Amino acid sequence: MTPHTQGGGPVRVGLIGAGVIGSGWAATCLGRGDQVLAHDPADGAETRTRAYLTAVWPLVRRAIPSAPKEVPHGRMTFTALADAVDGVVAVHESGPESVPAKRAIYAAIEAEADPGLLILSSSGGLMPSELQAEMTHPERLAVAHPLSPVYALPLVELLGGRLTSQQSLQAAETHLTRLGKRVVRLRREVSGYLTNRLTFALVREAVHCLMEGVAGPADIEDAVVYGVTPRWVQGGALTSLTLAGGPAGMRGVVDHFSSAIDGWWNDLGTPTMTPEVATALIAAADQITAGRSPEQLLAQRDEATVALVERFHAAGPGAAN
Ligand SMILES: NC(=O)c1ccc[n+]([C@@H]2O[C@H](COP(=O)([O-])OP(=O)(O)OC[C@H]3O[C@@H](n4cnc5c(N)ncnc54)[C@H](O)[C@@H]3O)[C@@H](O)[C@H]2O)c1
Repeated sequence: MTPHTQGGGPVRVGLIGAGVIGSGWAATCLGRGDQVLAHDPADGAETRTRAYLTAVWPLVRRAIPSAPKEVPHGRMTFTALADAVDGVVAVHESGPESVPAKRAIYAAIEAEADPGLLILSSSGGLMPSELQAEMTHPERLAVAHPLSPVYALPLVELLGGRLTSQQSLQAAETHLTRLGKRVVRLRREVSGYLTNRLTFALVREAVHCLMEGVAGPADIEDAVVYGVTPRWVQGGALTSLTLAGGPAGMRGVVDHFSSAIDGWWNDLGTPTMTPEVATALIAAADQITAGRSPEQLLAQRDEATVALVERFHAAGPGAAN
């Protein structure tokens, strides 16, 4: 079947794997008016996905103001893999985070799909060169890594492997931009990509400070929520550093603070996941989350994320830079 074109109107998108991330892609595509063809072999996958859409739709409507009032269940079909990769502009693979599992899924897709079909992996850190290594048409595989909740967070990291074509990366960027995503292209593949590397640099220091007794778990959380992240909404880590240089900006930072910064960097911790660290982390989490269920925590996180996205909408395109 010929794919629905990308002339600006709704298209048909294939989703392979409909867990947390696949369902998030479904919400994104349905919210933007597209048709979704989904495949997931798990028992109850369709019921679970439809229930998820119903639960999150009020937030989807806030994150995607053009989304319809009711969940457009009729625009989503759960089907066999062969049908989910037929006549679609791209397939988002959101199966388990394992190279063998993903390679097996690509083999199944390639057995059914047109050789030019764009395949986008949602992987959170696997190297695209490894993922595409056994493919017949590896040039059409790229990683398009979203963040959860997929329908709300604008960012998608896009990266290819050694064999990915520029044409595929361009087609992926066009597709993701049409879905309202803010695409960040990595210039080379690196494990964990960009967002997870940045996040885990902060997590590592949080664990170090916890283990060194610098502060308790709740205070470490407060330092991030009330101190670090509010200043990283408008510009990121590099903008913050620039502002530290006063009127001279980054030149002032380099001129006056280079040796102090080197001192801080050299003092940062490098904890490893020893049994002692693991025990301390579990105790810290129990203390921080006490009285709130995982569902409550997730709902609170998603609500806060959507509120921020609404602020981006109100401020206009490029507002976060
Ligand atoms: N959870 C996150 O926050 C997050 C964020 C970004 C990226 N990711 C990545 O997205 C991918 C999916 O993660 P998730 O959290 O949705 O996992 P998940 O376990 O919630 O969902 C995986 C789904 O894949 C299905 N599946 C298993 N084998 C399959 C097959 N052969 N064909 C089709 N579907 C199959 C499972 O039934 C399940 O529904 C992973 O690569 C993960 O690293 C996850």
